[in-house]
Amino acid sequence: MATPAVWQFYLRRLHSLAGIFPIGVFLLEHFFGNAFATRGPEAYNRYVEFLLGMPYLPVLEIGLVFGPLLFHGIYGLFITAGGDAFHPAQGLGARYHNVAYLLQRITGIILLVYISYHVWNTRVQAVFFGQHVDYAYMARYLAPTYEKAVYIVGILCACYHFAHGLFNFAYKWGLTVSAKAQQAMTYASLVVFAAMSAVGIHILFSFK
Ligand code: HEM
Repeated sequence: MATPAVWQFYLRRLHSLAGIFPIGVFLLEHFFGNAFATRGPEAYNRYVEFLLGMPYLPVLEIGLVFGPLLFHGIYGLFITAGGDAFHPAQGLGARYHNVAYLLQRITGIILLVYISYHVWNTRVQAVFFGQHVDYAYMARYLAPTYEKAVYIVGILCACYHFAHGLFNFAYKWGLTVSAKAQQAMTYASLVVFAAMSAVGIHILFSFK
């Protein structure tokens, strides 16, 4: 019979893995798909039709997106509540990593609220209330300035959380052992954060 400490170890590993696959991979796919908005309404609507026409869609959505996200989000709250907020990694220095680690937890909590709001306005409206979610709907819904502000915050948090998560993941799974490797990964995660944020905000402003 496994002890609570062993369970905690495996749950923590599962939480870490889920952040990359499937959730991180889904985030990249979500950006890529929504980037069709930069090609105009027709291209975006074709992408939406493709998504909605996918076989086994409910199974894929629950099994690869909502299930893992719920587990990662709820267990993430437990990790945050545990008060473990300091990181022993090197890279850009202890102070940078402590702040970065703390931000990982703060952005996680903001994401829990933001993703619920985003899913309510897009998926729940479509599945339970018959709303056709296409380019016109998204453009209307994202038009108010406050909505743009909410989305900018949400996109920046998702990009930061994922990008810094790559650093944490590599550290935790022993992929970056030397100080040099951790330094390189620190810069790589900052580049991922900047690139994904630019793409995400460009997509947001493509709905007009
Ligand atoms: C867009 C959705 C999300 C993505 C792509 C994502 C991705 C990741 C990744 C890649 C990691 C690094 C894994 C590691 O530390 O080894 C991570 C860590 C973490 N995530 Fe998420 N996450 C998301 C949403 C959330 C939410 C909603 C919460 C809720 C609080 C959360 C809480 C956490 C926490 C606390 C950690 C740090 C875990 C630790 O240090 O052991 N995440 N996430």
